[in-house]
Amino acid sequence: MTKEKRNRGWYGKLDKDGFIHRSWMKNQGFPDHAFDGRPVIGICNTWSELTPCNSGLRDLAEGVKRGVWEAGGFPVEFPVMSLGETQMKPTAMLFRNLLAMDVEESIRAYGMDGVVLLGGCDKTTPGQLMGAASVDLPAIVVSSGPMLNGKWQGKDIGSGTDVWKFSEAVRAGEMTLQDFMAAESGMSRSKGVCMTMGTASTMASLVEAMGMSLPTNAALPAVDARRMALAHLTGKRIVEMVEEDLKPSDILTKQAFENAILANAAVGGSTNAVVHLLALAGRVGIDLTLKDFEIGGEIPLLVNCMPSGTYLMEDFCYAGGMPVVLNELKDKLRSAKTVLGGDISAYAEGAECWNRDVIHSIDAPLKPAAGLRVLRGNLAPRGAIVKPSAATDALLEHEAEAYVFENIEDLKANIDHEDLPVTADTILVLKGCGPKGYPGMPELGNMPIPAKLVKEGVRDMVRISDARMSGTAFGTVILHVSPEANDGGTLALVQTGDRIKVSASNGQLELLVPEAELEARRANWTPEPPHYTRGYAKMYIDHVLQADQGADLDFLVGKDTRPVTRESH
Ligand code: FES
Repeated sequence: MTKEKRNRGWYGKLDKDGFIHRSWMKNQGFPDHAFDGRPVIGICNTWSELTPCNSGLRDLAEGVKRGVWEAGGFPVEFPVMSLGETQMKPTAMLFRNLLAMDVEESIRAYGMDGVVLLGGCDKTTPGQLMGAASVDLPAIVVSSGPMLNGKWQGKDIGSGTDVWKFSEAVRAGEMTLQDFMAAESGMSRSKGVCMTMGTASTMASLVEAMGMSLPTNAALPAVDARRMALAHLTGKRIVEMVEEDLKPSDILTKQAFENAILANAAVGGSTNAVVHLLALAGRVGIDLTLKDFEIGGEIPLLVNCMPSGTYLMEDFCYAGGMPVVLNELKDKLRSAKTVLGGDISAYAEGAECWNRDVIHSIDAPLKPAAGLRVLRGNLAPRGAIVKPSAATDALLEHEAEAYVFENIEDLKANIDHEDLPVTADTILVLKGCGPKGYPGMPELGNMPIPAKLVKEGVRDMVRISDARMSGTAFGTVILHVSPEANDGGTLALVQTGDRIKVSASNGQLELLVPEAELEARRANWTPEPPHYTRGYAKMYIDHVLQADQGADLDFLVGKDTRPVTRESH
């Protein structure tokens, strides 16, 4: 016997409540048969002109609708909060959990049976997945897709990655401000997300590795007609998923998360994937910890995309995209169900690679053992992470004196002083950029190299903070130090001149200061007063978990799948 559709609790009632639910929807011209019991499919859209990366999602929503109608469903599009990474202050990450709440409560409150998640820009994908997972109706992702390759002065240039390089070149006097300004237009030539393997493309790739989208979703350019066809096919598939009652909890198993961790290493993915996967796992009740990320440590880098390589997402697409990567990883992947209903092994079977310079084989990788490394020690008792594929190998084993910036204002005021007492060996430390401290854990971990060293040609230094880093950034940057300084972590106690030891190979991050001295400093430490005292930001500061737990809000962990039975009238 097929399960009664959830939408019957809204549109199947022959009383006043059913009249109200149907009649007001009919003001949009929907005929009677739209309410005849067919699956109602929500299309959860993060389109916004303030999220340029997601500005193509209105078109893709139309593609999804075609597929839903074709399969006998009833599509209904609805907006949720959109998070424009390059536009929001203090950081879009502050609002990821707010988007997740919006998505969760919208899905729960309305009479839908399944949902298509239209996201793209960095935080929109995890925010939507977290919200959908907490309701656990059938769900599938369609991503914005990357922008076309950036082009400037006859070269390919990549979102983010080249901005950091250009910015350092201007500071070193190697690039004119005029050229810097001219590169802006060449970098962003079409709709879509950053076309480097930044956080957006990383998360779309991991969505594919977890089986939460149709294959090829991650890399098809935003403006490629095949993405519209993919949206159409996704609309068809979600109707079938509702009939099959195939839910996120069936797909997002521990094995699926492990596949995401393995894939993240192979694509040279963003460090941000760590906090997003941890938070998502918390929603579906999977016990995922930083330790689980160690399985990525031995996975080689296969995808030659910026910031870990040289190509861009358009090239990755034409080389075959994620199906090729998953096929290369087939002997490593765990058995896990996908939105197609079968195993991940069938999902990418037989995918062919069309350019081995862009996607390397597992037997001849771009770099060996490229996965993220988890570091621990008295400076990060609950962990910190570093991305070796984007780091300088020689700096991954390093011991030196620290120079400390107490907060971002201190850094901005002093980083370019000619008499800053630093050398290329110094370890730069930035405090006050964790989830509670900033608040929202901004992407400031790849702090700029001091101007006097940039002029000497220094392009990388060991940097340590409780911040995150853009997925498009590079460098020997130790991130997500947990607990953060503003939560009383040891990071708060570091002083300029202290020695710090980093060993990526041993997973070590030690502040070489005697315990008695640290205790004395701790006794004198007082937390900074919070930067916000009202509204959502206050709620966030009061309830946010640390980075090693995904920086979700404590009361949002888990899910609630109970039916909504009470009416509004
Ligand atoms: Fe939106 Fe990079 S800023 S995807």
